[in-house]
Amino acid sequence: METNLRERIGFVEGDITKMDVDAIVNAANTSLLGGGGVDGAIHRAAGPELLAETRKIGGCPTGEARVTKGYRLPAKWVIHTVGPIWSGGNRNEDELLANCYRNSFEAAIEIGAVTVAFPSISTGAYRFPMERAINIALRETKSFLQANQSIKKVTFVCFGREVYNKYQEVFKEVFH
Ligand code: APR
Repeated sequence: METNLRERIGFVEGDITKMDVDAIVNAANTSLLGGGGVDGAIHRAAGPELLAETRKIGGCPTGEARVTKGYRLPAKWVIHTVGPIWSGGNRNEDELLANCYRNSFEAAIEIGAVTVAFPSISTGAYRFPMERAINIALRETKSFLQANQSIKKVTFVCFGREVYNKYQEVFKEVFH
């Protein structure tokens, strides 16, 4: 099982909007009306129909996920999830970030996505400590993939070499 698990997780350095997978995950905000960072990049690449659809959803609570089409993106779907804003670690941030991954995986199952790409949720504007966030991401992914066979590949899209190296480091610990 272990090796199979390792084959189902990948890491790339680059721009998530270029990923040709069934679903990419967006690090959105509770309004779902777009923003900067990866949210801005996804809306720019998907085109105006994405905002038209997210506007109809009417928002998303922190830790939850909502699905839209991908429009002009190579990805068929966008799973919008809202990460916690880091405020020291005593406001349930870890659990809320874990929920982002759990709920994004559940959403992927519902739409039948078998390949999914994640950015590093909450580690930019929301200032969640990178290594702590990566630990949560990889532990949640490991337990989800152990329990579910339908998702064939999860790819973490790292914005920069430093982040890429950190994912590799944490991967070795979590999947030792
Ligand atoms: N592809 C992959 N990763 C990216 C991209 C991209 N095109 N652009 C940025 N990133 C990385 C950042 O380097 C960071 O590591 O995504 C991670 C998440 O950063 P943010 O996009 O700032 O997301 P987050 O920290 O979750 O803050 C969300 O920012 O953009 C607004 O509307 C968004 O209010 C929400 C908040």
